[in-house]
Amino acid sequence: LASLEVDLSGIEPGSTVTVKWRGKPVFIRHRTEDDIKLANSVDVASLRDPQEDAARVKNPEWLVVVGVCTHLGCIPLPNAGDFGGWFCPCHGSHYDISGRIRKGPAPFNMEVPQYNFMDENKLLIG
Ligand code: FES
Repeated sequence: LASLEVDLSGIEPGSTVTVKWRGKPVFIRHRTEDDIKLANSVDVASLRDPQEDAARVKNPEWLVVVGVCTHLGCIPLPNAGDFGGWFCPCHGSHYDISGRIRKGPAPFNMEVPQYNFMDENKLLIG
């Protein structure tokens, strides 16, 4: 299936769900105000793959990323690592709450897939 519709209404603030899209995991994080503040408190120029949080989200409350580590393709664990986001246990890459690589061997931020909000509770990925 090329596109995937996701109902967001049951995803509590502060929690992350994983859906499967085109054979890959996609992480959907319902970000809290603290998450959003954290994501925007970073000196972007200091990042390995410099990207503003605003360039990675359509709505700051929702982070949507392909859940594949950009090092060698393992699936990072949510709510883990040193930067409030994800930790990849394979070789120790830490991603922040914007899915940006912060520490460890991965070269790039987790990929943001194509998606759109159909309405406030409905996401269409792809
Ligand atoms: Fe994630 Fe190597 S595959 S750190």
